[in-house]
Amino acid sequence: MKSKGLNAVLALALITPLLAQAENYTFNFGAMDRLPYMAPKLVTPEKRALGKTPTDVWWQTIVPTNSREKTGYPTQKPLAILERIIKVHTNPGDTVLDPFAGSGTTGEAAAKHRRGFVLIDESEEAIRVMERRLGITSAVATAPLNAAS
Ligand SMILES: C[S@@+](CC[C@H](N)C(=O)[O-])C[C@H]1O[C@@H](n2cnc3c(N)ncnc32)[C@H](O)[C@@H]1O
Repeated sequence: MKSKGLNAVLALALITPLLAQAENYTFNFGAMDRLPYMAPKLVTPEKRALGKTPTDVWWQTIVPTNSREKTGYPTQKPLAILERIIKVHTNPGDTVLDPFAGSGTTGEAAAKHRRGFVLIDESEEAIRVMERRLGITSAVATAPLNAAS
């Protein structure tokens, strides 16, 4: 699992600069959630009221053990992170694809902000968790990729 996680980080690091150069991308600056300034007395009251945009390093607590958000899926990510990404980088009515969907956090964030979603995961446990969490029935392909045709 560790090496898969590392691969995902590497893939993101490789893809991100390419996406930044693409002509057709979505960046809804105004939809970004704002954070309190570390030194609020050093900025104008207007800036203080608005808050600052997130920087490259995002601070977010893990999903608390006893929260309603918790699904029990071992690698579940906090909903707030996916909401931030989806609000800024997609528009209402868009469809979001998550091919490593786990507990379906991407789907919940997408639905909450009126986006569609396509969720994929190789784990049957993940599929069960997503069905329960999102109230959907999945289309499941179970044939191995190297099955004889
Ligand atoms: C870090 S977890 C995703 C967690 C998710 N963001 C959430 O909030 O629950 C990565 C997921 O990728 C799935 N996965 C790994 N390799 C895969 C593959 N080749 N095809 C489909 N799913 C895969 C794992 O089963 C795991 O659920």
